[in-house]
Amino acid sequence: MAPGGEMFRYSQHFGENVLPHGSHKWLPYSKNEVRLKSPNTNLSRLVRNEAFPIFPKGGVPMKLPISPRLLACADLVPPCRRAADVGCDHGYLAIHLIRSGIAGQVIASDINEAPLQSALHNAARYGVREKMSFYRSDGVRQIPHDFDCLICAGMGGDTMVSILSAAPWLRSEQYTLVLQCQSKTPLLRRYLSDTGWVIDRETILRDGKFLYTVIRALWNPAAPRLTVGGRYLPPAARDNPPELYADYRDYVLRGLRLTLAHQDNPEKQQALAELEALAISI
Ligand SMILES: C[S@@+](CC[C@H](N)C(=O)[O-])C[C@H]1O[C@@H](n2cnc3c(N)ncnc32)[C@H](O)[C@@H]1O
Repeated sequence: MAPGGEMFRYSQHFGENVLPHGSHKWLPYSKNEVRLKSPNTNLSRLVRNEAFPIFPKGGVPMKLPISPRLLACADLVPPCRRAADVGCDHGYLAIHLIRSGIAGQVIASDINEAPLQSALHNAARYGVREKMSFYRSDGVRQIPHDFDCLICAGMGGDTMVSILSAAPWLRSEQYTLVLQCQSKTPLLRRYLSDTGWVIDRETILRDGKFLYTVIRALWNPAAPRLTVGGRYLPPAARDNPPELYADYRDYVLRGLRLTLAHQDNPEKQQALAELEALAISI
């Protein structure tokens, strides 16, 4: 195989956005590789191996439709031998982790059959089928334990708490958690802190109209617990660009004030008082 690696040659000649259309042909190149021939390919250039990328058999060189939210999750995954994407749905995050070299292998699991089939199909389409394993599993119940980083994205904080609390074996320095929840984030932060996890990074991002956060947690039961205010706005969130941090802080404060205008809630009252004092001191 010519030097450079297939991703290098692909991005050099086509860019990540180009989808070769019907008139292109795949030609055999080696036992495990194919080469792309466009209708205008000059055969002598093909023979000289110039400008025509080589891909793994079954791989389709097109852009992965992965969202900024999932890319932010991938950014928090430490380079690892094997990651587990629980609730993988389409499998795009898992595929991206392999294609970008962040994870050597990925366990892709989902509680439902249809998303799992879609992940399997996409893994084959994007040429990473061999590096992924697929499990139908409620949380981490039916997946192997030999991985380094657990990722759960796009679920409610309560679902994540029930997944994590059903698996005390996860409480170990072996595992990094990357969690992106769509609701009840303070509940998840509280659970993490109470059980011995420390939020070492929390990325705030805007994707379309929405603000999201992605949590990375490491096992460290000796670390101090989050304060009540910290469950709503953890110290790690301060490491974001100041405008994003300010937007998120305002969003949290607005939410707390709105709830407290309609109901009594001592925890939220305490969090609001703590965060208002913090806002004054920034
Ligand atoms: C909204 S999708 C999010 C998919 C993807 N992780 C993302 O963030 O784009 C939630 C996925 O989690 C799966 N799911 C929900 N509860 C689960 C559980 N207890 N265990 C495993 N998967 C679950 C659903 O079937 C669905 O495919």
